[in-house]
Amino acid sequence: MAEQGERREGYSEITLDHFEHPRNSGVLENATAVGYMTNPVCGDTLVLMLRIEDDRIAEARWQSDGCAASLAASSLLSELVAGKSLSEASEITREAVVEALGGLPASKLHASVLAADALHHALAEYEKKREG
Ligand code: FES
Repeated sequence: MAEQGERREGYSEITLDHFEHPRNSGVLENATAVGYMTNPVCGDTLVLMLRIEDDRIAEARWQSDGCAASLAASSLLSELVAGKSLSEASEITREAVVEALGGLPASKLHASVLAADALHHALAEYEKKREG
């Protein structure tokens, strides 16, 4: 979990706002796709739950055990994907997450990988389920 007093230098206002006021955190009971990811760099984790209806992401929720950057990236991602079609969501890159956060300190850039990878994992699992 993010430590109290974690150094905040280098974080954008957007990142700090998402960290302090996380959006859409919690469990999505009727999720139709779930992505799990552990960041190999630091061990931070993210579970991303999506409710997909008519090939569109109707709702996203998440649970994360990680630093301020990973919480903020998860929160932002949940807003970024809501309402997107599956093909639009599949084009969301880690660079897009960083850009939407207003940048991240270099030492925390890997938090965007965690968010983007969890999204792509969820979408891949959904496709697998649909095909299977
Ligand atoms: S320390 Fe938070 S994503 Fe790595």
